[in-house]
Amino acid sequence: MADSAGIQQGSPAIGAAGLVPAAPGAGGTEGSGAAGGSARIAVKKAQLRSSPRPKKLEKLGVYSSCKAEGACKCNGWKSQNPPPTPPRTDQPSSTVNLQEPCRSCSHTLGDHVTHLENVSEEEMNRLLGIVLDVEYLYTCVHKEEDADTKQVYFSLFKLLRKSILQMGKPMLEAQESPPFEKPSIEEGVNNFVQYKFSHLPSKERQTIMELAKMFLNQINYWQLETPSQRRQRVPNEDAAGYKANYTRWLCYCNVPQFCDSLPRYETTQIFGQTLLRSVFTVMRKQLLEQARQEKDKLPPEKRTLILTHFPKFLSMLEEEVYSHSSPIWSQDFLAGASGGQIPIHTGKVLCLTSKPCLFGEKRKPTEPLPHEEIKRPRVVGDIPVELINEVMATITDPAAIPETSLLSAHSARDEAARLEERRGVIEFHVIGNSLNQKPNKRILMWLVGLQNVFSHQLPRMPKEYITRLVFDPKHKTLSLIKDGRVIGGICFRMFPSQGFTEIVFCAVTSNEQVKGYGTHLMNHLKEYHIKHEILNFLTYADEYAIGYFKKQGFSKDIKVPKAKYVGYIKDYEGATLMGCELNASIPYTEFSVIIKKQKEIIKKLIERKQAQIRKVYPGLSCFKEGVRQIPIENIPGIRETGWKPVGKGKELKDPDQLYSTLKTILQHVKSHPNAWPFMEPVKKTEAPGYYQVIRFPMDLKTMSERLKSRYYTTRKLFMADMQRIFTNCREYNPPESEYYKCANLLEKFFYTKIKEAGLIEK
Ligand code: ACO
Repeated sequence: MADSAGIQQGSPAIGAAGLVPAAPGAGGTEGSGAAGGSARIAVKKAQLRSSPRPKKLEKLGVYSSCKAEGACKCNGWKSQNPPPTPPRTDQPSSTVNLQEPCRSCSHTLGDHVTHLENVSEEEMNRLLGIVLDVEYLYTCVHKEEDADTKQVYFSLFKLLRKSILQMGKPMLEAQESPPFEKPSIEEGVNNFVQYKFSHLPSKERQTIMELAKMFLNQINYWQLETPSQRRQRVPNEDAAGYKANYTRWLCYCNVPQFCDSLPRYETTQIFGQTLLRSVFTVMRKQLLEQARQEKDKLPPEKRTLILTHFPKFLSMLEEEVYSHSSPIWSQDFLAGASGGQIPIHTGKVLCLTSKPCLFGEKRKPTEPLPHEEIKRPRVVGDIPVELINEVMATITDPAAIPETSLLSAHSARDEAARLEERRGVIEFHVIGNSLNQKPNKRILMWLVGLQNVFSHQLPRMPKEYITRLVFDPKHKTLSLIKDGRVIGGICFRMFPSQGFTEIVFCAVTSNEQVKGYGTHLMNHLKEYHIKHEILNFLTYADEYAIGYFKKQGFSKDIKVPKAKYVGYIKDYEGATLMGCELNASIPYTEFSVIIKKQKEIIKKLIERKQAQIRKVYPGLSCFKEGVRQIPIENIPGIRETGWKPVGKGKELKDPDQLYSTLKTILQHVKSHPNAWPFMEPVKKTEAPGYYQVIRFPMDLKTMSERLKSRYYTTRKLFMADMQRIFTNCREYNPPESEYYKCANLLEKFFYTKIKEAGLIEK
C-alpha cells in the first residue's frame, strides 16, 4: 500500500525508535512492538474463549480462592502436574478433572470454581480475558528492569488478580481520575489550528488538520522515557511531576493497549500541556529525523506534506507549547468567531489524500475568508482583521523568519539564550540553602559553583562574605546551568513586607559573557518575582555593571520610598543604588519575541501599503533651499499612506493641561447615571464568553489607572479607549438591552463633554 510509507495512524510505519511503542515488559528495548504484543494476547484470548467449559474452569480455578468448608485460605488451585514451561502445543491437552486435588490445599479443582457454576459464558470469557492479562503482566514484572515501571506493572498485576477473585471490573484506585489536565493535548492542538490557521481557505486548513491528526496520533503511540532515564537527561526538572504523569500514562494509556481488560484512554485526551512539554523536543527531533531517513520511500504526493509542511507545523506548535502565555492552553480559548472547533479525532485510519497546498497555493478571490463572516463593529484606526490574519500567517511562518535570522545582528540580546533554553541546553533554577530540609547534594554543589562564579567575577568582594550570603537561608539564587555546571546566577533577598527584592550578586562566568545569558537571567528573575508579587528590584551596582543594569531596565531614579528600604538593603561603598520597577503584565522572557513580531507586523503592513500605492516621490528638496518647516500634509504621498490630518480639535501640548482636562472629563463620565455598567472590568462569571467575543476590553477603572500613570499622552489615545467601551458594549449586548442603551446615552454625554473642553470641534 502506497500510504504505508507515510507517517500513519495506528501503525507507525516509519521505524524510528520513538515511533515503535514498546510492549509492557519490554522496558523500551524489546523489538517486538505493541502491535505484535497485543495481537498475540488477542489470539490467545480467542483460543481460550473457544475452548470447552471444563478447560475454562481449570484456567479460572488457578485464580480462584478455595470455597471448601472450613475456611480454606488457598487463593488459587495448583495442579499436581504443572504443565511444562512453555506449554507443549504439539501434545493434546489432557482432559480436565474437577476432582483433581490442589497441590497446595488438597481440595479439589471443583472446590475452587463453585462460584462459577451459574455464571454465563460471556462473564466467563470476560474473566478469562483478565486472566491472560494477569499472566502477561506477570512476565512483564519479571522482565522489566526499570524499578518505577516494574512497580506499576506489579500494582496492575495485583489489581487484575483481585478483580478475578472478586469477579469485579478492574478499577484503578487513584486520587485523581482522567483527564489530568485541561485543556487536553488534543484540545490544545485543536486550538492551535484555529489560532494560527483559521484564516486559510478550507482546503489548506484541511491539510493542516491532517498534520494535526498525524501529530496527535504519534503522541498516542509515543513511548515515554522512564523517570530515571529522564532524570539523567534533564536532571533539574520537576522529577516528581514527571513520575506522576508517567505512572498515569502506564496505567491509563500504555498497558491498556495490551491488556484490554483495563480501561484505555488516549494520551492526547487525558494529558495536557505539561506532558506535551516533557516529550515535545525529543519527539519533534525524532520525527523529523525519521522523516529525513525515510524520505526516499515516501510517495511523491506526501513528500511535501511530510518533508516541508510537517516541520513547519512542528516549529510553530513548539513555540506555543513552550510559551508561558500562549492562548491555546487557555480553558477559555474559543475558536475564531466564525469557525467553531475543528474536530481532530484520532481515528485509526488516516488517509492523506488532499494535495499539500499549505503555503503554495494562492487563495482564489471568490473563496470567502472565514473572518469575512464576522461583522465586528469597527473602531476608527483598527486594522482589518483579515489583513492582520494574513500578516500574522506570514510572520509566524518559520520559513519566513528562519531560526538563523533570529541570531542575526538585529536579533534581541537574549534570543540565543532563549533558544538554548528551549532546546534544553541551559536551565534556570531558583535554589538556596535551607535549614528545614535535608541538604540536597546537587543543590549544594550548585551553590558551591555559584560561590565560585561570584568570587571570580566580583574580585573586590571578600570570598567569605560571598559564601556567607550564598549559603544564607534568607538568600536565594537564580542559577544558570549549562551541561550540569553553574555558569552564572543572581543572588537575591526578598523583602515581601517592604515590597522589594535586593539583588546582591549578579554574574556570568567570563567565557560565557555577552551571549545574552545575563539578560535572560534577569528576565527569569523578573518573572519569578511577578509570580511572587514583588514588583521592585533594588541593587547596588558595581561601577562597571551600571551599563548592564540600565539595559535591564534599571535606573538611578528609585521608585521605592526610602523608608521602605533603608536599614534593609546592604550598602556598598563605591556602588550606585539602582532600581527597576516591574510590570506584572509583561512576560519578560518572551518580551523580545513579542516586540520582534510586532515590528514584523508593522513592517509587513508598510510593505503592503507600499505595494498598493506603487508610487515613489522624489525626496524633498525644499530644506536644501532654506525652508525650515513645511506642514505635514504638504509632503508628497503622505495622504496615500493613509495619514489623515488630526481632527479639527485642539491637541493640548502641555501634558499637565492635557492630564487635568482628561481627568475632569473622566470624572464627569464616571458620575453620569448611565456609567454604572462600565465602572469596572467585566467579570467573566457575570458575562459568559465575554472575553472570547471582546478582544480589547476597556472600562472606566482601567482608564482612570491609565490616566494616573500618564498613559494618555494625546487626546486621541483617551478618546479611543472611551470609544472602545461603547463599541464593546454594543457588540456584546443586544440593542434592546439596558447596557446597550446606557452605552448610547453615555457616549452622547461623553462627546458633549469633549466638545465643551475644545478637544474636538463643536
Ligand atoms: N557594562 C556595560 N554593558 C554591559 C556590561 C558592562 N559591564 N556587561 C554586559 N553589558 C551589556 C552587553 O554588552 C549587552 O548589551 P547589548 O544587548 O547592547 O549588546 C547587555 O549588557 C547584556 O548582555 P548579556 O550578554 O545579556 O549579559 P552577560 O551575560 O554578559 O552578563 C554581567 C552581564 C552579569 C554583568 C556579566 O558581564 C558579568 O558577570 N560581569 C562581571 C560581574 C559583574 O560586574 N556583575 C555585576 C556586579 S553588580 C552586582 O552584582 C549587584
